[in-house]
Amino acid sequence: MISIEKSSKPLTGSIFVPGDKSISHRSIMFGAISEGTTEITGFLKSGDCLSTIECFKQLGIQIEHSQRPMNGVPTITVHGKGLHGLTAPSKTIYTGNSGTTTRLLAGILAAQPFDSMITGDSSIEKRPMNRIIKPLTQMGADISSLKGNECAPLIIKGGKRLLGITYHSPVASAQVKSCIVLAGLYSESDTVVYEPALSRNHTEIMLRAFGADIHNEVDVKGSSATILHPGSPLHGIKVNVPGDISSAAYFIAAALLVPGSDIVIHNVGINKTRSGILSILTQMGADIQLENYDESIEPRADLHVRYSDLHGNENGRFEVSGKLIPTMIDELPIFAVVAATANCTTIIKDAAELKVKESNRIDSVCKNLKAMGADIEPTDDGMIIHGGKPLYGADIDSEGDHRIAMTFAIAALAAEGATRIIDDKCVGISYPEFFKDLRSLIK
Ligand code: S3P
Repeated sequence: MISIEKSSKPLTGSIFVPGDKSISHRSIMFGAISEGTTEITGFLKSGDCLSTIECFKQLGIQIEHSQRPMNGVPTITVHGKGLHGLTAPSKTIYTGNSGTTTRLLAGILAAQPFDSMITGDSSIEKRPMNRIIKPLTQMGADISSLKGNECAPLIIKGGKRLLGITYHSPVASAQVKSCIVLAGLYSESDTVVYEPALSRNHTEIMLRAFGADIHNEVDVKGSSATILHPGSPLHGIKVNVPGDISSAAYFIAAALLVPGSDIVIHNVGINKTRSGILSILTQMGADIQLENYDESIEPRADLHVRYSDLHGNENGRFEVSGKLIPTMIDELPIFAVVAATANCTTIIKDAAELKVKESNRIDSVCKNLKAMGADIEPTDDGMIIHGGKPLYGADIDSEGDHRIAMTFAIAALAAEGATRIIDDKCVGISYPEFFKDLRSLIK
């Protein structure tokens, strides 16, 4: 448990947030099934990404942590074995708390010659897996839920011949899309995944860099498709992981909540499929400047954030919905805190996916913000927040959800009295040094 008081001082100075979680996972996975070595800098050493490393070690991949001889930069080297080099695990593969590891790995394992079983912690065992079981089965894979409840543990029988499919995903989910694409790498024909809105496209960008023939298309109806023409082997590359915008979002919010704040967050990934939080906050009047923009494989910039008076449109309302939602899905909890302090009514719609994250984030955000005095109501697919009410310290149950713990640690900075976060250790899932980094900005 940690207790946090209202901040009497502004946030100042600069910070590097740790590497992007989605890109870190993928760099290990794609490196493992490529030929040659993949050298990763900026890798996120957090609970989730270390789970991915352990899983691939169990599948026979050698992965080394070292430091570059010249400059001491921490590096991870993955000794890839090519598309067909993984070996059978000796026991059940354990993915911890990581949905990305579970779902993407299932796509790879469905195409292997050996049998396997995957499971994770109690949160993973409650998350929906039918969303990947269904398309993988259509491709010819043999994958099922051990308990018959459409959740992990997942049993995968190997040695199946896979065929590419055209799949219309009912949800805009990068985990679903990436799972199908990874199985598609092993399929005998092309794979097309349509999604209602473009979800994060790191798999497409990175697999292309590893040598796959894959691209995104948006057609006249606005549907988004990812198209993969399988066949070519992948080749190891150097990956330089940018800072995680999902982690940066907590400090952006903190600077917007605490009067007088002025901070710089260096080297943050600003891929358009991830940066909805920047556009929405800017529309609300936030002063966020992009500096030192760098158009690498994954674009990045320094974010200069100054305290700002946030507002709605001329009717005092603000709506966050539709195609914007997947571009800020993990930032919606911290956005709700900002919205609760802004002088407007904010309506978050089309975000039912929040219910199937590490916790039911519609419930956990609404329950905890209400406990702090906010005027917030859950809806079927989001929430309605009448902002501008003062916040008060409260006991926060994170339910073991890292993003809920960090969200309410930031809300505490703007709340009268003390806020106690029960189970603050779960921040280690994505950001082990979160509290230390937060303290470094409040001097
Ligand atoms: C992720 C995709 C998102 C996101 C998760 C990471 C990924 O999940 O919420 O934290 O790395 O592909 P969904 O694909 O289920 O939306």
